[in-house]
Amino acid sequence: MCGIVGYVGAKNKAIDTVLEGLETLEYRGYDSAGIAYIEKDTISVHKAIGRVQALHDDLGPNVSKNTISIGHTRWATHGSPTVYNAHPHTNQDGSIAVVHNGIIENYEELRDFLKKKGYNFVSETDSEVIPHLLDYHLRKTRSFRVAFLQTLKALSGTFGLVVMTTHEPDVLFAARLGSPLVLGITNTNAIIFASDPAALIAHTKKVVFLNDYEYVIAKQDGTYALHDFMKDTKVVRDPEILAYDAEEAQLGDFAHFMLKEIYEVPQTIRSATLGRIKAEEGIVKLGGLEAVSEQLNYIDRIVIVACGTSYYAGLVGEYLIEEIAGIPVEVQYASEFKYRDEPFSRSTALLAISQSGETADTIAALKKVEDFGVLRLGIVNAVGSTIARMTDAGVYCHAGPERAVASTKAFVAQVTVLAQMALYLSKGNSPLYKPLLKELDALPQKAEQLLKLDATIQKMAKKYAHYNDFLFIGRKYDFPSALEGALKLKEISYIHAEGFAAGEMKHGPLAMIEPAFPTFAIAPNGSLLPKTVSNIEEIRARKGKVVAIGTQGNTQLKRLVDDVLYMPDTLEQTTPILSAIILQLFAYYVALERGHNVDRPRNLAKSVTVE
Ligand code: M6R
Repeated sequence: MCGIVGYVGAKNKAIDTVLEGLETLEYRGYDSAGIAYIEKDTISVHKAIGRVQALHDDLGPNVSKNTISIGHTRWATHGSPTVYNAHPHTNQDGSIAVVHNGIIENYEELRDFLKKKGYNFVSETDSEVIPHLLDYHLRKTRSFRVAFLQTLKALSGTFGLVVMTTHEPDVLFAARLGSPLVLGITNTNAIIFASDPAALIAHTKKVVFLNDYEYVIAKQDGTYALHDFMKDTKVVRDPEILAYDAEEAQLGDFAHFMLKEIYEVPQTIRSATLGRIKAEEGIVKLGGLEAVSEQLNYIDRIVIVACGTSYYAGLVGEYLIEEIAGIPVEVQYASEFKYRDEPFSRSTALLAISQSGETADTIAALKKVEDFGVLRLGIVNAVGSTIARMTDAGVYCHAGPERAVASTKAFVAQVTVLAQMALYLSKGNSPLYKPLLKELDALPQKAEQLLKLDATIQKMAKKYAHYNDFLFIGRKYDFPSALEGALKLKEISYIHAEGFAAGEMKHGPLAMIEPAFPTFAIAPNGSLLPKTVSNIEEIRARKGKVVAIGTQGNTQLKRLVDDVLYMPDTLEQTTPILSAIILQLFAYYVALERGHNVDRPRNLAKSVTVE
């Protein structure tokens, strides 16, 4: 979604820092960008459609070095991607500039009010009401700080915002309600604001994450004050040190972040299990759940809430937790959960799964049960993110930063954590306890082996890239994988793809099968293989082409399907971890073959911070 960067400091690094930060946020998806800075008591604004590079070009090489600047990458919600709609937005005399993430829900009402007061609007955005409202309150109160506070209180909806004004040219004003914002303090005493820590990590790891209803006044001398704008009280919170390696977020020798992140899968499995499992001794230790271990004894139902790929990881988790720990699990789209009126007892735990930890719907789902007195758990990748902070306990994925919009290694980490959670909750009372522990330990090597299929998958992707439809099927643990395989293909190749439980074929999807509608069948060895093979036979009988994922050593599939990709033997419970590598590489190469921007697919953003 949109990205924000703001800088105030004594060193003349404002514009460079903001542009660099915006470039770092490019991976999140955006359609336009803009920057504002103060020079000789005047705010200058530059905006461009498309890449941040266009802003660089617009500013030119001789741009003056400034001490204060704000910038924004926009992902259009209200109004199309035009220069007028791009941020920063200003008031009429250009003395106030604002960058905003989120949605101002009462913007129409505010806009009507301001229009009646003589304010003119130049954009179609909801955000433009903010500088005009600041102007309105400033004229009434004569104090920018009071005007800022009154404006915040008048806005409903969600916002992460940073404001700059010539009335206080050495100060940045920032606030958060439902849209992430972090403040970084550099060792040269500059303050950097960002909607994602990735944008400031090159300058500092010393950060303060803003909570909802907090605002900050940050000065050029490196001092800042944190307040609660509802209670109007000062907030004291020590900065924390980010555990984040800027190197990890670099492309290195890879052509795309997606490919790099797929290649990080073996290490991701290692990191997600490091210090948590001891296969030989039969131990699973999840430190993040220790504080609530007593409460977990009384949990008789778990509701998992998540979106997209994280939702599919949740579906794998449903099978795992039910089979291994014997606790009933229900997985719901967070966007549906929040509007559903369902009975919710205190013995139910809510488990939110999110790579970014900032997905608006998942946050809303957690908020919904805030007063129910239920245990709120999280499986989150981004350390210190909103979801990580609002849950009672949880387990980090430790997958490292994921930059490609299509989630790859994070899915693998989520499933790996869910498998460990299932083992932990089972307290050893499952015949699968030891075998699964042992297999988790062996998985990184098997994942490495699978990556050797890269060239074969690339060749196969070339063969299938021209099809406009694709079906993905699987049973039991492979059913969520089929859904995820279809999502991966559609989001980066724009091919129509659908995932189905293989057993559903005869209930409808089979009607679509014809030579131009191929199927990707996930058919590893296991108790349900004969059933999936029957489904493949039915597809072949209708002249449908089939690509299959089978287990090494299986000779039956080769005779039956058009192409087979073999994966190492594994438990059916861990198949989704390994098959994900094949499905991800297949989607990657098909998208590449079709000439798409693999890391930044059209219309999508990495982190969906608005509803
Ligand atoms: O950050 P989250 O895991 O909460 O994000 C959820 C989805 O938006 C995300 O998984 C999305 O579906 C991916 N782009 C899929 O590859």
